[in-house]
Amino acid sequence: MRNTLSLLSFLVVILLFHSCKTEAPNNQETSEIDTKVNDLLAQMTLEEKVGQMTQISINVFFEGEKLYQPTLPVQLQKDSLQKFIVDHHIGSIFGCARFPFEREEWKHFITDIQDIATTETRLKIPVIYGIDAIHGVTFTKGSTIFPQQIGMAATWNPELIEEAGRITAYETKASGQPWNFAPVLGLGRQPLWSRFFETFGEDVYLTRTMGKALIKGMEGNDISDPNQVAACMKHYIGYSIPTSGKDRTAAMIPERQLREYFLPPFEDAIATGVHTVMINSGEINGIPVHCNKYLLTEVLRNELGFEGVAVTDFKDIKLLHESHKVAASYKEAVKMAINAGIDMSMTPMDVNFSQYLIELVNEGEVPMARIDESVFRILKLKYQLGLFENPVPDFDAYPNFACKEHQDAALKTAIESITLLKNNNLLPLKKSQQILVTGPTANAMTYLNGPWTYTWQGNDKNFDPEEKNTIYEAIKQVNSSAHLVEGTTITKDTNLAEAISVAQTSDVIIACLGETPGVEEKGNIVDLNFEKAQINLIKQLAKTGKPIVLIINSGRPRILNEIEELVDAIVFAYLPGNEGGDAIAKLLFGEENFSGKLPFTYPKYTGSLWSHYDHKNTDLNIEGEIRAYNPLYEFGFGLSYTEFNYANLSIDKENYTKEDSITLQIEVSNIGEVEGKEVVQLYISDQYATITPSAKRLRAYRKINLTSGETKLVEFKIAIQDLAFVGLENEWIVEPGGFTIQIGNQTKEFVVN
Ligand code: BGC
Repeated sequence: MRNTLSLLSFLVVILLFHSCKTEAPNNQETSEIDTKVNDLLAQMTLEEKVGQMTQISINVFFEGEKLYQPTLPVQLQKDSLQKFIVDHHIGSIFGCARFPFEREEWKHFITDIQDIATTETRLKIPVIYGIDAIHGVTFTKGSTIFPQQIGMAATWNPELIEEAGRITAYETKASGQPWNFAPVLGLGRQPLWSRFFETFGEDVYLTRTMGKALIKGMEGNDISDPNQVAACMKHYIGYSIPTSGKDRTAAMIPERQLREYFLPPFEDAIATGVHTVMINSGEINGIPVHCNKYLLTEVLRNELGFEGVAVTDFKDIKLLHESHKVAASYKEAVKMAINAGIDMSMTPMDVNFSQYLIELVNEGEVPMARIDESVFRILKLKYQLGLFENPVPDFDAYPNFACKEHQDAALKTAIESITLLKNNNLLPLKKSQQILVTGPTANAMTYLNGPWTYTWQGNDKNFDPEEKNTIYEAIKQVNSSAHLVEGTTITKDTNLAEAISVAQTSDVIIACLGETPGVEEKGNIVDLNFEKAQINLIKQLAKTGKPIVLIINSGRPRILNEIEELVDAIVFAYLPGNEGGDAIAKLLFGEENFSGKLPFTYPKYTGSLWSHYDHKNTDLNIEGEIRAYNPLYEFGFGLSYTEFNYANLSIDKENYTKEDSITLQIEVSNIGEVEGKEVVQLYISDQYATITPSAKRLRAYRKINLTSGETKLVEFKIAIQDLAFVGLENEWIVEPGGFTIQIGNQTKEFVVN
């Protein structure tokens, strides 16, 4: 071992565990703004107030015979703008769907909207525009596109994610939009769910830290800064675990789990200062969240102290009537949602919402105080964003839009996300090898980007940026002998025979599998296995006896048990974004080292999906029995071209009080031949507790870089309070007793008195 003390290059990394309630909010609440808001509010009619609470899709303003099929070049219809903004006083517009636009086009749209709002309306209140820039700016041509959130989480590097947030904010503002409907803070614990890729994975702590980083990057210290935007934590709460796995279907979440697993990321986001929230379209325990006063007011406002704007998701108030069937009419749905605590309704195509709300207030069914509260929050957000002074940003003030530095940050994030799951000494590849590149995702950008890229579903290849490298193109740049044969589409053989024949004369096969981009209801699937055509491709190629590198482009784990043993290396690329092809090539040829770690448990079987690293002790497999926890690869797993050794885990005491903090240290050494990054993961198990404890919980992590032969001393500090769980009374408690710390292969026990 090379990690003798004389060789130690000491780096003490102090990782303070962030308690849910420790950080001061990013406090924009100046009394000066409050005074302005109150002055304005006092001048407003009911109609004007309700208009502020109404959000309309930009699609209603496009010229064209059919919705979503505008006449090109796309223009906003002045008479529609007049009708909605002047006659109906609407305060917010959002989105895009089937097209990305040039910045110049966005400039026209935003200018047209704000010109009418700030010159032709009585009170000249600017419109607030919201958009989904969820992995970089998704609806502006030429923007910087980062990995989707699941890939961001796989970096385990919050600094990179904060930077991704900063760049995204800059480019969103450069496109004229001040409000970003991101990040998603639901936990990715249901891999069948079509929006799994939008989560930070299954763990609470990883989601908390990543969510905070993205919000900090997007909002900065002051959202009136021309380079920052207002973030939107979503979808509050429990959207990500529909029991059926299908989007917007019912979830059952006991109060204890809701508080211990699902609330903390939102709580942290609020402490970070997030300005807005979007509500879950689904139901929890039979109550649609959009009309759940307990969750929207008691918990979100009174307990968590959130003061920002709560916007609905797409059409969700109407759906209380049409799909959830808890309201006998749309009007009743409006009453339920507004009285429960909604501030703004994404209606999204008409103003029936506003008309009903006006009637409800006049009939005394919705108190004026409730309206004033919501409008206060919305106007305050507009003031905080500086929209009254600058309703249209200066489009010339963004020279760094999609600059090299931004693209490099996206490349770095992709490189640090991509995760090596298996390597039988096949990787890194050599530049001299004859390579077959095959599979449906080998040569199209759509599979690297996934949904919310240029279009909502992200599946229109017409918008694939030509200047970006697909996996094949990037490999070809390193090894010009690389030969592309598709073999199969996602679902159907194309030229499989040719792929087999080229494989026979190749040294290595790089097979790229994946899924058709799809999100929300359109992304629902019924089977987590890869499609038969893709499995068949691997099986047929394996018969050639040539070594196979399997590259997976997918925002969730797809079951591998039929093909895992047939391949020599597995690279899980997630949806790495526009720089994904280059990132994969650099990693495959060893120009960069792998450091991504799974942010979810990779299930082995379709019948063992409810299988997470923080499972109950009874879920553990016992020899001869089949139980719940059945991973192919564990949460936090990921290989590297080097090897790391953990030694000398020490803690400062063996007995602690509930008020104490534990200080612990561990030596981590790079004992391989090349430089590499390691994610030091700290898990703690509560040995016995009144509520069955999890086998282990991630309590801290730190990504460090080590050159070959280097050792670093990593120090963590964990407050005993942060080992609390939600107990019998649904309140956070720490129980006295024994705990076990685990970092790598090192463990230590301690007692809390
Ligand atoms: C999605 C939201 C998104 C909204 C606006 C909805 O369909 O569920 O996540 O922010 O559309 O585009």
